[in-house]
Amino acid sequence: MIIYKEESYEKMSERAAEIIASQLMMNEYSILGLATGSTPVGTYKKLIEMNKAGKISFKNVKTVNLDEYHGLGPDHPCSYRFFMNDNLFNHVDIDKKNTNVPDGLASDGEAECKRYDEVIKSLGRADIQILGIGENGHIAFNEPSDHFSVGTHIENLTQSTMDANKRFFEDGEKVPNSAFTMGIGGIMNAKCIILLANGEKKAKAVKDSITGKVTPQVPASVLQLHPNVIVIGDKDAMKFL
Ligand code: GLP
Repeated sequence: MIIYKEESYEKMSERAAEIIASQLMMNEYSILGLATGSTPVGTYKKLIEMNKAGKISFKNVKTVNLDEYHGLGPDHPCSYRFFMNDNLFNHVDIDKKNTNVPDGLASDGEAECKRYDEVIKSLGRADIQILGIGENGHIAFNEPSDHFSVGTHIENLTQSTMDANKRFFEDGEKVPNSAFTMGIGGIMNAKCIILLANGEKKAKAVKDSITGKVTPQVPASVLQLHPNVIVIGDKDAMKFL
């Protein structure tokens, strides 16, 4: 595990974007596993800048996102498809046909999970999987549990996750209480995982995940078992390391 403690969110984002850009420079046909949330926004901004400057191209890149709220469609401003379009895809030379996010509106949830696992399988191992982390140690929407889930599934969100994500929703609008999420197996299948964390609120989850015991009660702790993880955090998130 490589750990970078950066001075600021800006520096964290720069470091992550540089690593992802190097991957795209090495292989223009890279497969990227992407994450949502406020954490990777700065990284995506830097990648957009590099793309506009002609340093990297997404023309042949394929992407697979981690998760999507159950019940939210691509036009809903809080859906993760909307987020990805708005924060990355609409601003780079990617072919949206090469981007994948679970369909939050799928009427048959189980069939959608199967379909998404097929998508993941057909793409092959992601070259880089970007991850944020929840305050309770969740990754994607894999909440603390008594087991690690392997495949894509529908997860009931914990109150703490719904409370943390309330800030993205309009006043009075309810955060969906379930979501489609890639399983821990899908995440661990990536060749390289970059875990990003910023802000003091993440410090305990980062410490428990990196230095605590591996347990599904702290889903991100499973990353200790992956051979190629890069943790990049700002100094507040990394204060206990
Ligand atoms: C959501 C997402 C996660 C993300 C987490 C942290 O629950 N499903 O993928 O890592 O929030 O979000 P933020 O970066 O906004 O703190």
